[in-house]
Amino acid sequence: MAKTVITYGTFDMFHIGHLNLLKRLSEMGDQVIVAVSTDEFNEGKGKKTLIPYEQRAAIVESVKYVDKVIPEETWEQKLTDVKKYNIDIFAIGKDWEGKFDFLKDLCEVVYLERTSNISTTELKRSLTRFLSIPHKDLMKAFEALEMLRRDLE
Ligand code: CTP
Repeated sequence: MAKTVITYGTFDMFHIGHLNLLKRLSEMGDQVIVAVSTDEFNEGKGKKTLIPYEQRAAIVESVKYVDKVIPEETWEQKLTDVKKYNIDIFAIGKDWEGKFDFLKDLCEVVYLERTSNISTTELKRSLTRFLSIPHKDLMKAFEALEMLRRDLE
């Protein structure tokens, strides 16, 4: 019988950790559903996203490992989604370990290893650090790199 896998997440500033997770989900079943959290749901959690919901959903939907995207609007919807979409496996990164064990009566619940050294939070920090470097210092660094490149040619 075909297996359906579901996951939930924000997927802001889509990165390799997101892609690896979606690939692993596709290897666990035949159909992958991703519930992407809406801007309103994130606001309620005090989480600010850089990329609006429509774009985050469109990016996730275009990934070849994903079959369907639905909006994540409430904490409670997981119970109804699992029943509505006949979910066999609920899978999410280990940062949520134990948090969704209440779904175990309805489907298999799996917590997956995260890709190391990358997260949206870390990307935002890097961007802040990058933007705080004065423009002239950045230009000096680029010139130095260009000279090095020419020397190596
Ligand atoms: N994820 C992962 N490996 C990473 C980052 C995220 O496997 N390096 C997984 C999360 O565990 C989750 C899904 O990707 O199941 C979506 O996570 P999301 O919270 O959108 O991404 P993060 O990069 O963790 O974002 P933040 O730093 O804002 O928490």
